[in-house]
Amino acid sequence: MSGFDIRWLDLREPADRRARDAGLLAAALAAIHRAGTARVLDIGCGTGSTYRMLRTWLRSTVQWQLLDRDPRLLAEARRRHGGDALTFVEGDLAELERLPLEGAALVTASALFDLCSADFMARFVCRLRRAGVGLYAALNYDGEMSWSHRHPLDDEVVKSFNAHQSRDKGFGAAAGPDAWSILSDNLHAQDFRIMTAASPWILGGQDAELQRSLLDGIVEAVAEEGNLSAKDLQDWHAYRIAAITSPVSSCRVGHQDVLALC
Ligand SMILES: C[S@@+](CC[C@H](N)C(=O)[O-])C[C@H]1O[C@@H](n2cnc3c(N)ncnc32)[C@H](O)[C@@H]1O
Repeated sequence: MSGFDIRWLDLREPADRRARDAGLLAAALAAIHRAGTARVLDIGCGTGSTYRMLRTWLRSTVQWQLLDRDPRLLAEARRRHGGDALTFVEGDLAELERLPLEGAALVTASALFDLCSADFMARFVCRLRRAGVGLYAALNYDGEMSWSHRHPLDDEVVKSFNAHQSRDKGFGAAAGPDAWSILSDNLHAQDFRIMTAASPWILGGQDAELQRSLLDGIVEAVAEEGNLSAKDLQDWHAYRIAAITSPVSSCRVGHQDVLALC
């Protein structure tokens, strides 16, 4: 799978910040502060979005390890945060035994698990249990997408987009919209204490660029699925782009946050 665009990650970051469930975020921060050790491992870190979000509330003694397999994103994270007290790890999550989990206060992730397969999540949760480390996994896409200004093809487009989300993203067939519930079931089965909460993007006029980029991505994915005609898809796209600038227009993209503590 090709890497994630830095511009896309930057565009989504303000919406992610607003969307994170405040209760789960507070509980994750408290878990980090309670832990005797003060090391947090952020997996699939991208350019460091989760670190930027959490560091505001954390003691400066907390050490961060940012792990990603994409050297381009890690280089950008290093460029932005090279002076901070954190380390960067280039690594593939698929190599579970090599993950530096032992002794971590918490593992964090955002916008990651919908890329993963059910099989990977089962193995990952066993690995977490063995290391005795909890997980804060925010912003897992849950398959719900809707707009205040309806279009007759919305449901069909979302259905096709969700089918596309299940394509292999490097872990085998991705769990896509089902990821957060599969992850939660696995965590439950391994006796973690779990909390989940909805963390939807609510996008308005201030997110016009993010909405345009999202729509372009949806159209590309749905075209690859091939269930809608090119003409229908073009009409839907044109309608949605025009609606972005219309007053009181909004778009809701569903996510779920998951917190699992030992
Ligand atoms: C949607 S991005 C989210 C990035 C960041 N957490 C954020 O919220 O901006 C998913 C991230 O997971 C990383 N990733 C995907 N598969 C991975 C793997 N097998 N091992 C390590 N990182 C992976 C990607 O390189 C990318 O940085």
